[in-house]
Amino acid sequence: MTKDSAANVAIKVVAIDGPSGAGKGTLSRLVAQRLGYHLLDSGALYRLTALAVLETGVDVEDPVAAAKVARNLNVNFQPDQEDTRILLDGRDVSGDIRTERVSMAASQVAAYPPVREALLQRQRDFRQMPGLVADGRDMGTTVFPDANVKIFLTASPEARAERRYRQLVEKGETVDMAALVADIRQRDKQDSERPVSPLKPAPDAIYLDSTDLSIDEVLAQILKHTES
Ligand code: DC
Repeated sequence: MTKDSAANVAIKVVAIDGPSGAGKGTLSRLVAQRLGYHLLDSGALYRLTALAVLETGVDVEDPVAAAKVARNLNVNFQPDQEDTRILLDGRDVSGDIRTERVSMAASQVAAYPPVREALLQRQRDFRQMPGLVADGRDMGTTVFPDANVKIFLTASPEARAERRYRQLVEKGETVDMAALVADIRQRDKQDSERPVSPLKPAPDAIYLDSTDLSIDEVLAQILKHTES
């Protein structure tokens, strides 16, 4: 181990993993704000890779070509109080990476081992003083296996679809609830059955089901674990 990486390992990490729609994004941001830590939205890196693949006409079925795109991503995360602006080649793509089309492509490229490998060090580089909250699927298992606190946050597919439904309706989009539940189930299946870094709790993760809990209740539980 190099001196740098040895020093890096002393920096605290709170890993928050789980399926989409469990509230990880909101909770991770709130936990990071409370602790004054940096925030890694690892899903955004897979979404950015997918967007860049789709926009540049690279074959989404080609893992090596997609990995090249991942390695060369020119990304800038600009956090503020409310949210993080995400720039790709200087262009704000915060909205573009959240469409259903990009979500499906992100889940596809995230299953490619060369893409995951290409994004590994970029994710570890977010581990900076005074600490990091890392949001994803494999934060506690693969990217930061030595994280100080590992949370596996989940909720029923119906509860997750309902949250997504409300978000989309707020944005003025027309949505079909049954299609949303079907999408979520398909993505869960894709994410949990892939051979590399599948979505599964680390053996030492704390399992939290947010189906019947408010954001404040989940936040309080996570913060309790960061204090102990
Ligand atoms: O959390 P999200 O919905 O923004 O993630 C987008 C996609 O990337 C989703 O299909 C899961 C995948 N992902 C992953 O495989 N590993 C991560 N650490 C984060 C996200």
